[in-house]
Amino acid sequence: MAINTLKIREDFPILQKRIGGKPLVYFDNACMSLRPKQVLSAIQHYYEDLSACGGRSSHRLATQLTEEMERARKSVSAFFGAKRAEEIIFTKNTTEGINLVANSLALHKGDVVLTTDKEHNSNLLPWQFLAKRKGIVHEVVDSQKDNTFDIDRFERMMSKKVKLVAMVHTSNLDGTTIPAREICKIAHEHGALVLLDGAQSAPHKNVDVRKIDCDFYAFSGHKMCGPSGIGGLYGKKEMLEQLQPFLVGGETVTDTTYTTYELEEIPHRFEAGLQHYAGILGLGAAVEYLKKIGMANVEAQELLLNSAITQGVEQLQLIGPVDPKLRGGICNYLTGSIDPHALAIMLDQSASIMVRSGAHCVHSWFNKHHLKGSLRASVSFYNTVDEAKFFVEQINKIVKNLK
Ligand SMILES: Cc1ncc(COP(=O)(O)O)c(C=O)c1O
Repeated sequence: MAINTLKIREDFPILQKRIGGKPLVYFDNACMSLRPKQVLSAIQHYYEDLSACGGRSSHRLATQLTEEMERARKSVSAFFGAKRAEEIIFTKNTTEGINLVANSLALHKGDVVLTTDKEHNSNLLPWQFLAKRKGIVHEVVDSQKDNTFDIDRFERMMSKKVKLVAMVHTSNLDGTTIPAREICKIAHEHGALVLLDGAQSAPHKNVDVRKIDCDFYAFSGHKMCGPSGIGGLYGKKEMLEQLQPFLVGGETVTDTTYTTYELEEIPHRFEAGLQHYAGILGLGAAVEYLKKIGMANVEAQELLLNSAITQGVEQLQLIGPVDPKLRGGICNYLTGSIDPHALAIMLDQSASIMVRSGAHCVHSWFNKHHLKGSLRASVSFYNTVDEAKFFVEQINKIVKNLK
């Protein structure tokens, strides 16, 4: 069933505005999504009607907030197909979720952590730091020539020494998605755990953590129509119970003496200090909103847009496979002798088209290929095919004039 994009756009106040006198064409969705009024209302509801803390005080405002927070947790866990609400820990973002695993899992000197060669810095630095601090070994699985995952190479690199496979589920560099279910099966056969960086899969496709069978899955609210500063980490209950929290303090314990403490149950033992309550309610509203749209519809619309861009853009070299079906909502281009930042600024100034330029926090991949950066258009379900065609027309015109 095709979605009514024009109707959906009415939910997004920013899409009703003009930027520099022109309609906004927002193609920087892989960085941050726009927010519908349903999410804005949930945020406002917190500040206007509750404005209290959750989980502690026993007055009515606090009690209502605690109930609404746990309802949001249930919505998020259902959205990702988790078995239990308590398997969702609220974090600031994907980065915090990954750092939580890195700093809470019992990894020791000589243990191997495997990543892909296309990791966002958020799923690279935690392992580099652990290599320095604890002596773990970080190994990289190189992609195939077309930048897709090399499952045979991965299987050859697996051994009993590999304790964790920490990989980007959908790449923010080229939109490709790794065969996560197969990866989990192979990893588990070797006794390793799997952590998926879900920053780019959560907003764009149906993710069922139980079907995939990953042990951990980190995501960011701000990329999936939710507020900034809120995200989450899914973990299988038995895995979360084995982690040693690394951020501790208020909310993480049920009792303390001067020398001892009793840890709270999961997930609260990982949610230290007062929380981003407006964000949590907003995230709950965001997943309900996406559920209503339907993630299959989101994916279908993004494929339409990706196809229009892929077919239309001339003279620039696409990163990753040409087939739009393999690249979700991402079209990332090497711009040759043209500075990608200059191109991005021209698109903004001349046509109010917002795209991202640079290394997209995947510096390691650009360094490996001796490249400096690229220009990335990333679409979402509220973008229209007319916008995609307009982008194509504008970028082709600018590039032609510059060459
Ligand atoms: C693939 C990927 N991983 C991790 C992140 C980091 O997300 P956040 O900054 O929300 O923690 C991003 C953000 O762009 C991303 O695209």
